[in-house]
Amino acid sequence: MSSFDPLLSVDRLTVTAGDNTLVNQVSFDVPRGAIVAVAGGSGSGKTTVGLSILRLLPPALLVRQGGIVFEGKNLLDFSGEDMRRIRGGRIGMVFQEPQSALDPLFTIGRQMDEVLSAHTTLSKAQRYQKALETLDEVQLPQGQRVYKSFPHQLSGGMRQRAMVALAVACGPSLVIADEPTSSLDVTLAARIMELFVRLKAKGISILLIAHDLGMISRIADDVVILKQGEVVEKGPAAKVLAGPAHEYTRALIEAAQ
Ligand SMILES: Nc1ncnc2c1ncn2[C@@H]1O[C@H](COP(=O)(O)OP(=O)(O)OP(=O)(O)O)[C@@H](O)[C@H]1O
Ligand SMILES: [Mg+2]
Repeated sequence: MSSFDPLLSVDRLTVTAGDNTLVNQVSFDVPRGAIVAVAGGSGSGKTTVGLSILRLLPPALLVRQGGIVFEGKNLLDFSGEDMRRIRGGRIGMVFQEPQSALDPLFTIGRQMDEVLSAHTTLSKAQRYQKALETLDEVQLPQGQRVYKSFPHQLSGGMRQRAMVALAVACGPSLVIADEPTSSLDVTLAARIMELFVRLKAKGISILLIAHDLGMISRIADDVVILKQGEVVEKGPAAKVLAGPAHEYTRALIEAAQ
């Protein structure tokens, strides 16, 4: 594999639900160490693309066509077992609602320990060290206290960062984040964005699913604009957002101002 190969390559992805085509021939690459945003209006298929990559589509949705090549292998050929190893390991996930990723019944530490024992060969003591390091990395102060806390004992912004910590604990090469800041106020959203830029500096690629074009213009390298399941435009974020070629992109930009 040459170093020019992208980390993730989505090739003509087509997803259907019965007779409806929800995602149609969507192609884009995520280069190594880049932040690529997938933007578009509500219902344009952003989440469906993210869930397809993770192979977490609801049963009614079917990948009809296409390839999802990650680290040189087509994830669509992977077994359920292989995918469980990939998720939380090489690919971290961050969702809009921390509630959906954090188990309310277990402490943050317990959940971090679980993901680390599933995906690494670290000893118990090493896992504890790694968990504290990761909490520090996502700028959660008082890591030992957070480690012992249940999700409900943390603020919304802290929960969001704890979810990022879970996503990056095992050293993924890709993080897929679906509307990671939409439940946060602007200040906390900005901190999560800073965190993503720090992850990128460490060589982690991020697929950022978002409709906030302001945020995208600040941190994304590339942007893919989806409309009704199809790519209308894609390219360097600065270029696309400064000089959109498509009417739909212009409308999205205007709506964001
Ligand atoms: N389980 C399902 N069965 C049938 N259609 C679905 C299902 N889930 C999603 N869809 C449809 O797929 C399309 C894309 O939905 P998706 O959730 O991917 O959009 P989105 O871009 O993430 O929107 P939002 O910005 O609101 O999160 C929508 O038309 C939606 O109604
Ligand atoms: Mg969505």
